[in-house]
Amino acid sequence: MEADANSLFAKAWRPNPVETSYEMTEIEGSVPREICGTLYRNGPCQKIAPEIGAGALHLFDGDALVHAIRFEDGKVSYLGRFAQTESYLREQREGRYCGGLNVRPEVAIDEPPPAIQPNTNVVAHGGRLFALVENAPPFEMDPVTLESKGLWPYDGKMVGMATTAHPKIDGKTGQMLIHGYQPIEPYLQLYVVEPDGEVSLAEAIEAPWPPMMHDFAITENYVVFPLCSVYFDLEPMLQGKRFTEVVTARDDLNIKLGVRGRAPGSPVRWIDVPSTGFMFHPGNAYERDGKIYMDACKYEDAAGLLESLSTVRGGSCNSGIVAHPYLYEIDVDAGTCKETKLSDIGAEFPRLDDRLVGYENRWGYAATAEAGAKEAEAVFRRVTKYDRQTGKSVHRPVVDGQWVGEPVFVPRSPDAEEDDGFVLTLLFDAIADRSAIEILDARNIDAEPLARVWFRERVPMGFHGNFAP
Ligand SMILES: [Fe+2]
Repeated sequence: MEADANSLFAKAWRPNPVETSYEMTEIEGSVPREICGTLYRNGPCQKIAPEIGAGALHLFDGDALVHAIRFEDGKVSYLGRFAQTESYLREQREGRYCGGLNVRPEVAIDEPPPAIQPNTNVVAHGGRLFALVENAPPFEMDPVTLESKGLWPYDGKMVGMATTAHPKIDGKTGQMLIHGYQPIEPYLQLYVVEPDGEVSLAEAIEAPWPPMMHDFAITENYVVFPLCSVYFDLEPMLQGKRFTEVVTARDDLNIKLGVRGRAPGSPVRWIDVPSTGFMFHPGNAYERDGKIYMDACKYEDAAGLLESLSTVRGGSCNSGIVAHPYLYEIDVDAGTCKETKLSDIGAEFPRLDDRLVGYENRWGYAATAEAGAKEAEAVFRRVTKYDRQTGKSVHRPVVDGQWVGEPVFVPRSPDAEEDDGFVLTLLFDAIADRSAIEILDARNIDAEPLARVWFRERVPMGFHGNFAP
């Protein structure tokens, strides 16, 4: 691994802790007027770096700098605000780094509050905006001003300690399903939040072991929990060890998929997958002819991935950093699952037209690697569009020095056909050391972008975001 090559990845992720707002007037091309609403994005951006430098942080470490990019009549504006959790405010008061997943402060603070950095995703639902991370309940922020409102513990109905950063909003009913996981029983929990914000289901779920389960999938009638070989080791956790010493990958545990009906009280059935590895993100799942089809990006080398996550911000990683797209064909009645690798080209951040979450989709989008990528700097180089009917894929060309983030699909109009719309992604230009929102025509993903809207301040790459009309 060449450290200087990987340091470009580190450059793309390094913090730039600026809270600001402005009109984004530097635009290449023209912004389609059909895009009307707000693209919310989230990512780690540590405001006060540890004494030994931000490069020592775990990839998941950092205060949550939430971005709201507003589109109206072809004009774009930007607002960025930190999620002011109790631990964030304490750190500002102390005026020094107070701790994270990888790095301890040189001198510990007295009675530290639980470290909550909701830096992974940001989702609007039921009139609320939530900044999300998987070790806490949702953190509510004002959808317009991004003012911090505080943790939202499901109207007091929580049956676990946290929920994840990956709710699934049913594309037809608007219900938000979200799961939680934790290292003590009950290992899993499931919640349903109705479109009006009412919590209609909060149930504990038994699982064979305490997994790290970043994301899950839903269909019209089922929930699918991907139980992978990355799990929490309680012993070091009780000794107060760091996150990286507590999370373990075991190559003797095959993946299991937990399939459960969405109705209250439904049992869960754990179905074996004939392989090991770890998945952060399923793309979509749906039912057809008595089967569930789920696509997901899977890391074949879970131990290599865990090691890379803790070192990549400092400029080094291994080939475990690359995930590939897979299809899982689950026969619910027979309790069997077939796994098929869809491509040898690395892919992450799979998305689709959100109106089809839980239902059969033809098109999917992901941030993909250069062919043969084995290192971090080659992983997120372009947007790829997949056709599930033909198995073909189309790539936006790789541009020298440029990285892309998660592709978010925005339909041209509320009733536009699938794939008739735009794909928005965060772009980082390492040569100019600047960031932009790139707007692609979904039906011509390999053509020149329709527009690039440049930020004044570089935005660290970050993880996920969503468009709210
Ligand atoms: Fe994620």
